[in-house]
This record gives sequence, C-alpha cells and structure tokens, in this order.
Amino acid sequence: MVSYKDLGLVNTKEMFAKAVKGGYAIPAFNVNNMEQLQAIVQAASETKSPVIVQASKGARQYANPILLRYMLQGAVEYAKSLGWEKPQIVLHLDHGDTFETCKDCIDSGFSSVMIDGSHLPYEENIALTKKVVEYAHQFGVTVEGELGVLAGVEDEVVAEHHTYTRPEEVVDFATRTGCDSLAISIGTSHGANKFTPEQCTRDENGHLVPPPLRFDILEAIEKELPGFPIVLHGASSVPQEEVATINKYGGALKDAIGIPEEQLRRAAKSAVCKINIDSDSRLALTAAVREVFATKPAEFDPRKYLGPARDNMKKLYKHKIEAVLGSAGKAE
Ligand code: G3H
Ligand code: 13P
Ligand code: ZN
Repeated sequence: MVSYKDLGLVNTKEMFAKAVKGGYAIPAFNVNNMEQLQAIVQAASETKSPVIVQASKGARQYANPILLRYMLQGAVEYAKSLGWEKPQIVLHLDHGDTFETCKDCIDSGFSSVMIDGSHLPYEENIALTKKVVEYAHQFGVTVEGELGVLAGVEDEVVAEHHTYTRPEEVVDFATRTGCDSLAISIGTSHGANKFTPEQCTRDENGHLVPPPLRFDILEAIEKELPGFPIVLHGASSVPQEEVATINKYGGALKDAIGIPEEQLRRAAKSAVCKINIDSDSRLALTAAVREVFATKPAEFDPRKYLGPARDNMKKLYKHKIEAVLGSAGKAE
C-alpha cells in the first residue's frame, strides 16, 4: 500500500471547498507521458495554481502504473524546485470503471478517483459508487461520481445523445453514496468533435457556433445541492488555430469543435470546481509535432519535436488557468 500522502500529493477536499467559495475551477489535465506532466507542472508552478493530474485506465497502462506513481512523486519535487513551496497536486483516476480499478489506484498512490457508473441503472450506480467511497475514505482518498451521460465516447461506451443529469436525483445520489464531487451532463462531450455541424449554427464568417450548455440544469442542480462540488467533463475548447495547424501540415480533422471558453468561464464561477481538459492538450501536442515534421523533414531527434510540443501544451495549460478557470494564485 502506497499512500498519496507519502508522495507529497493532496486530495481534492480542501481545494474544491475553496474553489466553490471563490468562484473558480481547478484544472484537471489528462496525462499519458512525461512531456505532458512536465508541461502541467511548469504551468501550475509558474501560476501557483492547484492542479489535478488525471490518468485514465488506458493512460495508466500506457505510462505503466509503477512509473506513473514515481513520476507524480517526482512532479511534486520538480514543482518545489521551480519555486512552488507547497505544491497542491492531485493524482486522480479518470473514468474508473470498476471497484477493482479504483482500489488498485488507491493502493498505489492516487489521491482521488472517479468511479463512473453513469451507464449503469441508477441503483447499480449508487451501489458501486458507495462501495468505492467506503474503501477510499478509509485512506483519505476523495471520490467523484457521475450522473447523466455525455454524448460521444465515454469510457469506451458510445452514446449518440446526451442524457442530461436529472436535478431531482442529485441529493439522493450524493447522500446515499457519500461521494465528494459529482460529474454532470449539461451538454459537453468528449473528444474534438463535440457537435455535428447540424447541431450548430454559423456566424457571419461561416464558422460553426455550438449550441449553448444547459446552464438551466446546472442552476437547478446547484439549488438542490448548494455548495457541493460539481465536475465538468468534455470541456475542451478545441482551439481552431491548433486544428488549422494540424490540417495545414497533413492532418485531416474535419468539423472539429469544442466548448466556447466564455461558457467555461461562466461555469467556473458556479459550483463547477473541476474542469476536465484532455483533447486540447492532444491537439496542442499534435500540431507542434506535425509542424516540425513538415517543416524540418530531416529532423529525427525526439527532443526537437517533443520539446516544441511540450512548450505548446504549457502555453495552453497556462492560458486555461489564467484566462478561463481563474485558478492562478490559488495555491500560493
Ligand atoms: O474522457 C476520457 C479522457 O479523455 C481519457 O481518454 O481513455 O483515451 O485515455 P483515454
Ligand atoms: P475533452 O475530450 O473535452 O478534453 O474531455 C476530457 C475529459 O472529460 C476527461 O475525462
Ligand atoms: Zn471525461
């Protein structure tokens, strides 16, 4: 058993309470490799923002669970070396699918886990989430549950349409499971194609404009559960300049579209205190790598293309922290 405390990590309890009160959100950036982690730590350290580093089950296998644990321990030390005296870094399991996956993560240094029972019948979701909470809380690990299903691919399950969270269920779910935060479905979705062109309108320049998030549902949830930490998945904005760079240098991303940043700013001011961003980082990485490959075809030193990719991700992370989520300076 490895406790997250021994790795220098923190759970989400305190940071969520402060974020809900303070009207900002904590960034939850997905990690698969060293360059992403370096960029996250640099961005969080330079802005003194609390940060959630989250790994999906697939990412954990890709990175290797043992390496990942030591990488996070290293991340805390690295942050200190960058002048961040008391780093507030969470290691979170993204979309945990079973009790066993969650237990394995809790036992190996994760400070927070998500149990995603959103595809299950309601009572089964409650039973599974409660079981994870009971185990996790013995070790001070915080738990995120989910109610409602996002459209798109989630946990390898494809849903064609959103099943929005039902505000009338949230009190019962939170009370009976004891979860520490709740992921909801209000119109975001995973990936770089969050809406079909048919679901969008077009502005005067012909650019796609996505339908707005269901803030009415969010407000109803907040009314039911005042002050309870709410999580937004599928919150990438899909920066059009990265999409353009990818396509300019041989990519084939068609109709890629995300959640406008103004809507995320609005969400961050509410009880939404964790905003999940993965696709934007993938786009930033891919755009930089494609540009080097296309403009310097003789280059074959990985540092020469992964270095620019890391810098581009860091720029993105800092932008999210400073200009969208409002978490800069909240972990001085
Ligand atoms: O919501 C899913 C995250 O973007 C992680 O994706 O399962 O491909 O690692 P992944
Ligand atoms: P995006 O695909 O919008 O980045 O969402 C990531 C996410 O929700 C991870 O759980
Ligand atoms: Zn997600």
